[in-house]
Amino acid sequence: MEIIVQADAERATELAARIIATRIRERPTLVLGLATGRTMERIYERLADMHRNGLDFSGCSSFNLDEYIGLEPDSPRSYHATMRRLLFDRVNFVPGRTHVLNGRAADLKREARDYEAAIRAAGGIGLQLLGLGETGHIGFNEPLSALMSRTRDKTLTPRTREQNAPFFGGDPDAVPSRALTMGVGTILEAEEILLVATGPAKAEILARAFEGPLTATISASALQLHPRCLVIADEAAAARLTNRSYYDFVFLNEPEWAPYREPGS
Ligand code: GLP
Repeated sequence: MEIIVQADAERATELAARIIATRIRERPTLVLGLATGRTMERIYERLADMHRNGLDFSGCSSFNLDEYIGLEPDSPRSYHATMRRLLFDRVNFVPGRTHVLNGRAADLKREARDYEAAIRAAGGIGLQLLGLGETGHIGFNEPLSALMSRTRDKTLTPRTREQNAPFFGGDPDAVPSRALTMGVGTILEAEEILLVATGPAKAEILARAFEGPLTATISASALQLHPRCLVIADEAAAARLTNRSYYDFVFLNEPEWAPYREPGS
């Protein structure tokens, strides 16, 4: 695992977008695991810019982490619609190769099983992008999610509904109380994981997730088990990390990061 700290959210999301673009160029048939949330918006904006400058998604496919239960895919607040608006309508994925769980499926267990099967049929996820919930969730794996859990329905915490209320007119009660989400075990099967966290609201949970013990009460802590997990944070989100100088030293010395370091840093 590595943690790279950037001065601000703009630089953190820019770095994440550049790494994703590199992976797509290295493997044009990359299977992307995609996330939603405010942190992702700027990353998708940059990927859309890069697409205008030639970044090609035509060989790629994607699987989103989660979707609210009860929202029609056409509802503007669904993750289906959000992903179309932020990314799918702005780059050149082949239609049918972007996958988002259906929160209106009549049989949610079957929907979850079929989604897992579709991920396997695509050859598994190559690069999984993650945000970090204030409860420590990845996807919608709220506290006590089994660290080997698979795609299934979950009840959201009041805190998560509050965190996502801005997308629902500011009203936490308008946020659906349940969601379908890839499991922690599903996420851990990705070949490579990139988690991005910005802003002071993430500072405490980021430190607990990555410098604290592995625990089902913070599903992001399970990422400590993953052999290729990169965390990108801005200064505000990194404020509570205790081993910070070592992480900076690694970023400055690892040859892999040379192309991403700013001149003079
Ligand atoms: C939602 C998503 C999570 C995401 C989180 C972060 O809860 N289901 O996958 O990590 O938002 O949100 P933000 O980036 O807005 O802080």
